Amino acid sequence: MPEPILKLEEVSKTYRTKGSMFGGRAAGLVKALQCVSLEVLKGEIFGLVGESGSGKTTAGRLIVKLESPESGRVLLNGEVLSTLRGRRLKAYRRRVQMIFQDPYQSLNPQLSIYESVVEPITIHRLAAGRERMERVLSMIQTVGLSPPESFVNRYPHQLSGGQRQRVAIARAMVLEPDFVVADEPTSMLDASYSAKIFNIILEMRKRFGITILFITHSLAAARYLCDRIAVIYRGHLMEVGTAAEVIHHPLHPYTRALIDALPKFGLAEQIPRYNTLLEEERAGVEAVGCPFFMRCRKAHRTQCGREVPGLEPVGPGRFVACFFPGNGGGAGGKGS
Ligand SMILES: Nc1ncnc2c1ncn2[C@@H]1O[C@H](COP(=O)(O)OP(=O)(O)OP(=O)(O)O)[C@@H](O)[C@H]1O
Ligand code: SF4
Ligand SMILES: [Mg+2]
Repeated sequence: MPEPILKLEEVSKTYRTKGSMFGGRAAGLVKALQCVSLEVLKGEIFGLVGESGSGKTTAGRLIVKLESPESGRVLLNGEVLSTLRGRRLKAYRRRVQMIFQDPYQSLNPQLSIYESVVEPITIHRLAAGRERMERVLSMIQTVGLSPPESFVNRYPHQLSGGQRQRVAIARAMVLEPDFVVADEPTSMLDASYSAKIFNIILEMRKRFGITILFITHSLAAARYLCDRIAVIYRGHLMEVGTAAEVIHHPLHPYTRALIDALPKFGLAEQIPRYNTLLEEERAGVEAVGCPFFMRCRKAHRTQCGREVPGLEPVGPGRFVACFFPGNGGGAGGKGS
């Protein structure tokens, strides 16, 4: 069994939001992550799957140290991130990289492709002269921009969206990191280009043995790429297991609702397999019970409305945060 390379221990993160005079929105607190614990094993592609606003990017930003947790700890290879300073922090910035949904978040439009990919090598003094040039060309070739000589003098605006994302991947990978957070790297691309980017990610893992946290809203993408996945809902982990187990035998009502929402090709009508999502949200006090209580058809009003289920083991490597996982218990479709 491989060792965990990354650990999140009871990590919480709350954002303060400003009110809006025009929209009538009051200032408040957004709990983006709530007591999240997970382990990513060396060499795996671990998927963090959830709908918009569930806290996926927040988790990624904490891991690459663009943000700090409000409580809990993040550890890479046993080192606690909040204690890193000076040289150890600089080394961390090399070892852990992030690929963003929008490649312009990591590419400066003023820099040529060569300048964008060489910059991290220069900052971290990894190579000089001819070796530096060779490293850049080889990485540009590896991400499928071929021949690399025809791309190095171009600028990001002269490339397609898919080619820009390849350059962003090259810029991250040229540092030979140990750990990469890939945050919805294909959500701005069409399906055929997405498949090419997925294959580059798989190739990078094979070639360099990199561990990857792959953030996505798509269970189908997670099934294709990931060894294990965690399903996240409103800052809480709902289910963790191998991608195959979670997708083929989902135990949490929310995971089941996500699977029901997947398009089923060739079927005349969409027949929900699990039917765990209420058509109308239930009234209740959201803050005290299960985070999925308002939408869960299986909810038991007294227990689920008053207690938060913990993420509990239900089998080897399998965890679920639900009082009635699988087909057991609850209202059983009546929506009590
Ligand atoms: N800097 C910020 N200030 C205030 N609120 C924030 C900030 N960043 C994120 N949030 C809020 O925190 C919650 C989680 O956001 P996050 O970006 O992590 O979600 P996500 O799962 O990545 O969503 P998406 O799929 O849309 O990218 C959301 O409600 C979001 O509005
Ligand atoms: S704990 Fe209750 S409300 Fe929450 S997902 Fe399970 S059955 Fe639904
Ligand atoms: Mg996001």
